[in-house]
Amino acid sequence: MSDTTNKLKDKIAEAKLGGGEARIKKQHAKNKLTARERVEYLLDEGSFEEMGILVTHRTTDFGMEKQKFYGDGVVTGYGTINGRLIYIFAQDFTVFGGALSETHAEKICKVMDHALRVGAPLIGLNDSGGARIQEGVRSLGGYADIFYRNVQASGVIPQLSAIMGPCAGGAVYSPAMTDFTLMVQDSSYMFVTGPNVVKTVTNENVTSEELGGARTHATKSGVTHFTASNDIVCLEQIKSLLSYLPQNNKTTTEKLPFTLGDEIREELESIVPDSSNKPYDMHAVINGIIDTDSFFEVHKDYADNIIVGFARLGGRSIGIVANQPMSLAGVLDVDSSIKGARFTRFCDAFNIPLLVLVDVPGFLPGTDQEWNGIILNGAKLLYALSEATVPRVTVITRKAYGGAYDVMNSKHIGADMNYAWPTAEIAVMGAKGASEIIFRREIAAAEDPELKLTEKEAEYAEKFANPFRAAERGFIDEVILPKDTRRKLLKAFSMLENKTVVRPDRKHGNIPL
Ligand code: COA
Repeated sequence: MSDTTNKLKDKIAEAKLGGGEARIKKQHAKNKLTARERVEYLLDEGSFEEMGILVTHRTTDFGMEKQKFYGDGVVTGYGTINGRLIYIFAQDFTVFGGALSETHAEKICKVMDHALRVGAPLIGLNDSGGARIQEGVRSLGGYADIFYRNVQASGVIPQLSAIMGPCAGGAVYSPAMTDFTLMVQDSSYMFVTGPNVVKTVTNENVTSEELGGARTHATKSGVTHFTASNDIVCLEQIKSLLSYLPQNNKTTTEKLPFTLGDEIREELESIVPDSSNKPYDMHAVINGIIDTDSFFEVHKDYADNIIVGFARLGGRSIGIVANQPMSLAGVLDVDSSIKGARFTRFCDAFNIPLLVLVDVPGFLPGTDQEWNGIILNGAKLLYALSEATVPRVTVITRKAYGGAYDVMNSKHIGADMNYAWPTAEIAVMGAKGASEIIFRREIAAAEDPELKLTEKEAEYAEKFANPFRAAERGFIDEVILPKDTRRKLLKAFSMLENKTVVRPDRKHGNIPL
């Protein structure tokens, strides 16, 4: 073997050790895999091709010229997941705590540029102490170079961010601008400023986990879409998520093999209770409609009065937005509107048809909601659905009241097919509230106001607590039996496959933010 070949071999071996055995041991002791182990596990066996394994930083301040590690704290390259091309970067915490230097950022930007040119998903595995402190503004510039590319790639290629260790300060804004964030419980956290700064500025005592751990971001802030109990579960989630997504915005998702035969689903007949005030689990409706076991829920623990997620219908990927009567009666509020809008826009950007399931009593009243901008935030969902050009189908299972009827993919805002079950109640509001307003004088003047209210409520319900008025106007295309829903939707989405919409030329719309 020549000297150069030996040299190369040694360099590669050194690079593969990252920050060295001791630091790898430390990483494992924290129940974390190393960057290379993560890449190995995630990608198809033998498919990973590394780019820039011999890159080193160029810093000479603080004696840094004596501390160099091949790869400079990030493993970058391309490979396949279930046969599909993806680009990846994985920060290596064993090298300077995965901190981002100018060259580290250049490596990430290189794979981002490739991914965008080729049209393939980008996956970032984040595990980093933030900006490389020894590099100052060069490191900050590196972050901005990444942010800029995140935005250019937004809506063109799917971008997924897994947070598998620290992610603090400026580092949080790259994941925030990607399509989906996943966090590992107990070993990852994300915050703009850490517990020490929080203590100094606001005098709050809070741990890293409370401030920005996976549970916090899954339930309180909605920053993460998925949480995982460990690295392996997180990497498996990435694989599952990817299976519902196309390579880029010019393609559609792959259709999985599918055989007909289970279109009639009797179990859907008994889900909606007799009393319109009784809750039921919309997941049962979803599972009754889609291909068996195909639901992949997004933002499961956040704003659970709305359900969003991917599923397959006839082997094809669809996005589902559904009110959840089990939580706050399925009402729309600030958080659920934002959650629904964000998911809708992702599906629309990536050609994933949308199914909207409606059981909504309206918007949540109260000072908290008004002062937190339910007007602007509710408008986000309305805007997102109105601008979506993918096939859009609606099924009203029960309540569709007031402005929320309009918002939830009504015919009026461009839905393609609108179905209602016989249990649907499409009205300005519930029968009781409506009667108390329009029959107020009559009720007050009655000998027995309670009895009068009950009579009037029944009268209003008879007139409006049904889907027929809307069907007479064509706002509902068909009133269908619940058991027939899957069959109807298979046909509707198949009919809509070649849908095209031409919008007026403009730079971009102005979604209320
Ligand atoms: N720049 C350069 N080196 C960094 C770094 C950074 N931002 N963050 C961590 N490192 C280095 C540490 O010096 C240490 O080096 P060593 O292995 O040679 O000892 C190594 O990464 C691991 O860091 P350590 O502090 O031992 O790990 P930890 O798990 O105990 O703590 C952090 C992790 C991220 C909480 C901690 O390193 C930290 O607070 N880092 C600074 C965060 C920050 O303020 N970043 C800049 C602003 S964005």
